[in-house]
Amino acid sequence: MSTKDVPRPPKKVGLAPNLNSGFYGQDIISVSQFTRESLDYIFGIAEEMRAIVKRAGSTDLLKGTVLACLFYEPSTRTSASFIAAMSRLGGTVIPITQGVQFSSVAKGESLPDTIRTLESYADMIVLRHPEVGASEIAARYARKPIINAGDGIGEHPTQALLDLFTIKEELGQIDGLAVAMVGDLKYGRTVHSLTRLLYSYDVELSFVSPEILRLPLDIMNEVRARNLPVRETYDVADVIEIADVLYVTRVQKERFSDLSQYEEVKGCYEITPELMERAKEKMIVMHPLPRVGEIHYAVDDDPRAAYFRQMENGMYIRMALLAAVLGKA
Ligand code: CP
Repeated sequence: MSTKDVPRPPKKVGLAPNLNSGFYGQDIISVSQFTRESLDYIFGIAEEMRAIVKRAGSTDLLKGTVLACLFYEPSTRTSASFIAAMSRLGGTVIPITQGVQFSSVAKGESLPDTIRTLESYADMIVLRHPEVGASEIAARYARKPIINAGDGIGEHPTQALLDLFTIKEELGQIDGLAVAMVGDLKYGRTVHSLTRLLYSYDVELSFVSPEILRLPLDIMNEVRARNLPVRETYDVADVIEIADVLYVTRVQKERFSDLSQYEEVKGCYEITPELMERAKEKMIVMHPLPRVGEIHYAVDDDPRAAYFRQMENGMYIRMALLAAVLGKA
């Protein structure tokens, strides 16, 4: 295939309210764009991507295309898995992932100008930014597709996709499950996105956090409006025996303006082998990672510890998204 064969996305006309009519050329900003149908579509491609990687390591599906990764916040998994995904699809990457202080952002360049610059070199831009809504703003300026890789405490849609894919792969279904989210539910964008993605399914939700890190009221109201069974508690012991999915998150020091509040709640939860003895035989422990003490290292040997498999799934999901948005799925 020559580079002439690589399709160019059409000029965008605004954020797609949902992706049922196709991913080609679209921004991926929020989980609200996804329906069960579009999720099944992406999960199917991700399974094919995993088979390709296991069988051949890579393909030249996206040969001749360029992805820009622009990260204003630290990342290991999201940045590395997008780079690996593009590499395994035969494309190349402009990696601004080791700190925007080494880019012209340090000279005061605005987000729109940075986006305009990168889209003149790349076919798609993956953006992580500390401000809620930054990806949507970037998408308004960009002619090329923008993928939200985390916007402050807002959303992390590609993480939620890989989380849901992992639940389906590990437990065979999503409907009927009891999902418990533990830790920083206030600032945790992965929790916000996964909770919203689960609205499309028949699940029971539990939210376990200290008082000051409870799920934001607007999201809790959305959950209640959908009549999903829901419980809030401070004690992980209240959910350990019923959870099919225990989704553990880090208390994020960087999100606190008052560090004394962080000191009050840091280390509030630790999943230990003793606690796991009370969990169902068929359940999974997930974590978006990085962890800083919420899951004891001894739990890693438990077959129910799914967080490293979850992390690997991120690459297959991101391969699927890249191929779909660039019209090559
Ligand atoms: N899960 C996640 O977003 O990890 P990184 O911050 O390392 O990208």
